[in-house]
Amino acid sequence: MKHSHDRRFDPADRAGLTSEQRRARWNPPRLLTLAGLQPGQTALDLGCGPGFWTLPMAEIVGPQGQVIALDVSPEMLEALAAENPLPHVRLLHGELPAINLPDAAVDFIWAAFVFHEVEPPAALAAEVHRVLRPGGRIAVLDWRPDAQSPSGPPRADRLSPQQAEEHLRAAGLDSVRQIWHNEDAYLLSAEH
Ligand SMILES: C[S@@+](CC[C@H](N)C(=O)[O-])C[C@H]1O[C@@H](n2cnc3c(N)ncnc32)[C@H](O)[C@@H]1O
Repeated sequence: MKHSHDRRFDPADRAGLTSEQRRARWNPPRLLTLAGLQPGQTALDLGCGPGFWTLPMAEIVGPQGQVIALDVSPEMLEALAAENPLPHVRLLHGELPAINLPDAAVDFIWAAFVFHEVEPPAALAAEVHRVLRPGGRIAVLDWRPDAQSPSGPPRADRLSPQQAEEHLRAAGLDSVRQIWHNEDAYLLSAEH
């Protein structure tokens, strides 16, 4: 039986997650803004890695907001800490699907290239629903099974946008829709 750990991104490969090439390709502030992240919000970065999205999230929410950066990998969290994130970034070590936060604690959840790594995805969607405040929003950015790029996780491990949407709906989230895609990835948005 395949263990969910087999799907996990190897922390030894973390340098590739913060390359200039990747920044130019994804333009994090553009996608985060498109997904609805706003100044003053409390935002949660699920599977934050070394902070490729966390750092621009902190810029967008500003000092009146907060970014909680969650990852299971101590190496990833250490790499993020070494980037000297702004003071309103809080690192949270934890293993999804559990999210060690109170109910209705956050306004916005960002899940980039992590949903497909977590088993079972339905449990992750339920936790997302629990920690989002009413009116809060989740955005899921993940690999298309039919991506053009040869890189990325094994295709058999990927979630189609329809599968990811179904998990979010089943957890009770509303307005589930795809708001952007390119040849390799899709971006979904849903509201509590
Ligand atoms: C492919 S990397 C993406 C990192 C970051 N979101 C990005 O796009 O740069 C996936 C991240 O999710 C983390 N991760 C995987 N499974 C996890 C789990 N069950 N709980 C918490 N973090 C997990 C990995 O340690 C890794 O940092």
